[in-house]
Amino acid sequence: MATDATLDKIVSLCKRRGFVYQSADIYGGLTGIYDFGHLGTLLKENLRYEWRKSVSHAPGKTLFMEGALIGPSALWKASGHIENFHDPMIDCYECKHRYREDDINLEKGCPHCGKKNWSPVRQFNMMFKTHVGATEEQASIAYLRPETAQAIFANVKNMISTNRVKLPFGIAQIGKAFRNEITPKQFLFRMREFEQMELEWFCKQENAQKFFEYWKKARLEFYYSIGITKNKLRLRPHEENELAHYSTACTDVEYEYPFGWKELEGIAHRGNFDLTQHTKFSGKDLSLYDEATKSSIVPDVVECSVGADRLFLTVLFDAYKEEEIDGETRVVLNLSPKIAPIKAAFLPLTKKQRKPMFELFEKIQKLGIIVQFDESGSIGKRYRRNDEIGTPYCFTYDFDSENDKKVTVRDRTTTKQERIDINNIASFLQEKIK
Ligand code: GAP
Repeated sequence: MATDATLDKIVSLCKRRGFVYQSADIYGGLTGIYDFGHLGTLLKENLRYEWRKSVSHAPGKTLFMEGALIGPSALWKASGHIENFHDPMIDCYECKHRYREDDINLEKGCPHCGKKNWSPVRQFNMMFKTHVGATEEQASIAYLRPETAQAIFANVKNMISTNRVKLPFGIAQIGKAFRNEITPKQFLFRMREFEQMELEWFCKQENAQKFFEYWKKARLEFYYSIGITKNKLRLRPHEENELAHYSTACTDVEYEYPFGWKELEGIAHRGNFDLTQHTKFSGKDLSLYDEATKSSIVPDVVECSVGADRLFLTVLFDAYKEEEIDGETRVVLNLSPKIAPIKAAFLPLTKKQRKPMFELFEKIQKLGIIVQFDESGSIGKRYRRNDEIGTPYCFTYDFDSENDKKVTVRDRTTTKQERIDINNIASFLQEKIK
């Protein structure tokens, strides 16, 4: 019988196998801020790669950019974040615990002490404020970006003129965002420093609804393509009162986490809110010249925005299984070979087989495929170690290999084994991770 993941099991696996660490752990750490270790870095890079590929396959050209993390207050005034980027905060006067008011049921009392002695609700702006330069004057106030999108809007003219694109087109960006969340929680689900993968799709107003529908489908297809279980994903349109200050319609891609159905990605019809605001506040005309109608237009924007860390957590939840095999329990991460951090392990059975196995390992590594050589412990232990980090294939070089020039390959998910020609290892792996 297979058992599914819980949050505690995922946190423990991430720590045990070096996917994720509490940041600055040796100093007590900071809540909601994490570092990624060797396996975590590799997994995240694979997610970024697959995401970039997915937004490049679009009904128009997709450009990429990387904006700065700090922006002047004028930028955040224009975007509406200074005025609107608030969460409602409430304190329990009894035990001094602080909550996001919309996260708890006030009638039930404080989740920590059970009392109902509440402070008034205050609006808390989630942006991290800083000063640029040596003086702490008003003019030097700046903010760490709470979303990557604004760098795209502020650069739209630069991007168009240097890349000669026509509507419809996309600008995509992967980068850090910062939010001083009142209650960071559920590990990588709600962090204070996190990474976003955002696509802003620019199009004519009359086509915006069509592209909104297009991207909803395309984003689901992306999640299927990286192996996420179909019936754990759904689209949920926002109610009117849930819409962010910039959007006229929004649909979330939700995943069924152990703590319920929650947002994985937001797909928003932002209208021309952002470009209009930046034109107004900067005094720079951000309209585009449309050859077809020989007129200037301010395009509409459809946005697809997902957190890289939240996606990381999602693929771990989705892939994690505990199963009984040969009377033992194994933890296995059934990650798609496309995103698995290590694509294959090379396991010599005896000391004598070390050299030929190591040569095979080096040959594959030189092709740029991330593989590992693992020679310590029993073969069963080495399989378990690799199952637990999601390595889809394990190669063993055995007594017959010398004569028949074949290796045994074990499939992580099925545990089935087959013999393949030594010269076919590279093409076997390349085919599987395509
Ligand atoms: N530009 C639009 C935007 O930022 P959002 O719904 O606030 O919209 C988009 O964020 C995505 O970023 C979310 O769907 C989620 O995947 C991720 N995200 C947001 N806040 C996060 C946090 N505190 N920690 C981790 N991921 C977060």
